[in-house]
Amino acid sequence: MFYKTTICLIGIYLVQSSSALVAASSSKKIHYRVDVVETFASDLGEGPHWDEKQQVLWHTDINTFRVCRLNVSSRVADCHQLSDLATLVHPYPDGQNLLVTQRNKMVRLNWQTKHVDVLAEVAPELKGRERFNDGKADETGRLWMGTILNNDKGGIVPGKGNLYKWENGMFSKQATMFSITNGMTWSYDNRLMYVNDSESHKIYVFDFDIEKGTLSNKRILIDGYNSTDITVNDRPDGLTRDKQGYLWAAANKGGRVFRVDPSTGDVVDSIALPCPLTTTPVFGGPNFNEMFVTTAYGNGGPDQRAKYPTCGQTHRITAVDSDEFVGTVDYRPKP
Ligand SMILES: *[C@@H]1O[C@H](CO)[C@@H](O)[C@H](O)[C@H]1NC(C)=O
Ligand SMILES: *[C@@H]1O[C@H](CO)[C@@H](O)[C@H](O)[C@H]1NC(C)=O
Ligand SMILES: *[C@@H]1O[C@H](CO)[C@@H](O)[C@H](O)[C@H]1NC(C)=O
Repeated sequence: MFYKTTICLIGIYLVQSSSALVAASSSKKIHYRVDVVETFASDLGEGPHWDEKQQVLWHTDINTFRVCRLNVSSRVADCHQLSDLATLVHPYPDGQNLLVTQRNKMVRLNWQTKHVDVLAEVAPELKGRERFNDGKADETGRLWMGTILNNDKGGIVPGKGNLYKWENGMFSKQATMFSITNGMTWSYDNRLMYVNDSESHKIYVFDFDIEKGTLSNKRILIDGYNSTDITVNDRPDGLTRDKQGYLWAAANKGGRVFRVDPSTGDVVDSIALPCPLTTTPVFGGPNFNEMFVTTAYGNGGPDQRAKYPTCGQTHRITAVDSDEFVGTVDYRPKP
């Protein structure tokens, strides 16, 4: 188990990447430090984006409808409660407004006045049963958003989630047959788009056309059901990329983030966190060499708070002895 390598030092966790996994790709083993940079504990922390202008981390707490602005230095999160499920928050380039998804609505939230404008609504005929989950902007500022279809009891209808593109104020469906459409990211040449599906334990890759904003040729990059590198506990959640173009996925229930070689689908590094319910990684900090990982303590399962006291809080991973653990800024959605 990965937790065995975790040493707790006054709230700071020193972890070693798993040697078996690292040995496969590189002779140099990177050591990481994990600490907790938030005092607020979300029920289901998600949708984080680093705001390079304000040097804060925005994230949501899906189940309590909160949008939070986290100062990772003071560890104070300033949270605002909305009227429905908030799954992701993206700062707009103007530094004033945020793009937030509220169940099946995309809204603009003014952080000063807390005024909410509804910009668009997906599948209004389903009255919110199809709801947004994760989303990200491509290099041109088009927003790509994944949805989940809930049944009457709030469970998930497998294979009925969609992937939408939002451009010029309009949604269009670009791919279907996801269960929980989650983390997404692109290759730096913009020829590939990666989308994970936590419920089906897979990361998919599509051919991507940045000019037209279209996807084709969906295939499986990594499959938790028959991979030797990840297990079915490693439900791939949020996804980001590092500067070398490798992918980092959070293992929702696996308590770790893992690095994937995008050309082979091999897991080449893995970092354990003290909370098993890791949701989404994002690079940030003044030099983009800090990885922030949102976590959950409830998430529809047993309450993890007593056993795992840092669950729900945002964790930070930094490399102790390498300058190669670096990401880049996320693209911003066009207002
Ligand atoms: C974050 O907190 C630190 C330390 O308390 C403070 O110096 C800094 O100004 C804060 N940053 C923002 C953006 O509020
Ligand atoms: C990726 O995996 C996570 C956790 O397993 C999940 O919550 C998320 O919805 C997935 N992303 C996609 C695009 O399916
Ligand atoms: C991996 O598992 C899936 C079932 O989830 C199966 O359909 C697929 O054929 C398997 N692929 C390989 C290479 O075994």
